[in-house]
Amino acid sequence: MGVCLQGGEFARKVKKFGKSEIVVGGMETQDEKILRAARILADTQTLMVFTGAGVSAESGFPTFRGKDGLWDQYEIQKMATPEGFVQDPAAVWEWYCWRRGLVLEGKPNPGHYAIAELERSFEDFLLATQNVDNLHRVAGNEKIVELHGNIFAEKCTRCDFRRWSEEIYTEPPHCPKCGALLRPDVVWFGEPLDPKDVERAWSFAERADTILVVGTSAVVYPAAQLPEIVHARGGRVIEVNLDSTPVTLIATVSIRGKSGEILPKIVEHFKAIS
Ligand code: APR
Repeated sequence: MGVCLQGGEFARKVKKFGKSEIVVGGMETQDEKILRAARILADTQTLMVFTGAGVSAESGFPTFRGKDGLWDQYEIQKMATPEGFVQDPAAVWEWYCWRRGLVLEGKPNPGHYAIAELERSFEDFLLATQNVDNLHRVAGNEKIVELHGNIFAEKCTRCDFRRWSEEIYTEPPHCPKCGALLRPDVVWFGEPLDPKDVERAWSFAERADTILVVGTSAVVYPAAQLPEIVHARGGRVIEVNLDSTPVTLIATVSIRGKSGEILPKIVEHFKAIS
């Protein structure tokens, strides 16, 4: 399995088409889809939730792609690659510190809290997030794999020093152990995911009955394999997103809307029927 971060125009297209479900009476309304998602959850033992930047949009954080996305205003090559960091560490740190500031001021939204409620409701649960914004932890999730790292984690570019820091730097920080530059401990394009995270998330996807995919464009690999793995084994895929994505093609139910509005409704119905 290739585990280096890759996406955008290099993203693989989903080749399989979803299981077709016959919906009697024509088009399902949004409320009917929400009910169907809740029924799927009520019939699930092992639940995986997979999230992206969209789940934090209602907390005031810009997403990466789409209108006003970060990758419209910043260059991936400069801000999110090891080469970009070597070229201009000050610019990269400035960008990460701006985002740290947003996170420190921001709060989880009802979508994050609904996912935390799902963790409390399922004994066999794992949240795999591509987000580095720490908001799932603040909302109460503990069974979590942060596939792309955490914005408050830092590591040395030379030695094995690592630390947690909520500081907003004006100059790039240096390692207290060896003096080399510190960098954000996040996964940049072209870098491998942490093998421990890959093992935990991929082995869970191999046995999940259902995956709830929220607020991700699902174009960045290897993370975007997770719904494909669950679907390929015959598991159910529930998608909540403002727009359609490659996951829509394989979704058992795909709901268009804001995760902060849709997820609490799904969880409310799920709790009422389970
Ligand atoms: N509710 C639900 N979905 C939303 C909302 C919302 N309120 N707002 C936006 N979305 C959806 C968009 O329609 C889009 O499909 O969230 C998705 C955000 O997609 P991206 O910006 O591509 O974010 P993500 O999928 O997390 O990106 C993956 O790419 O740049 C890298 O490493 C970075 O982890 C990131 C990875």
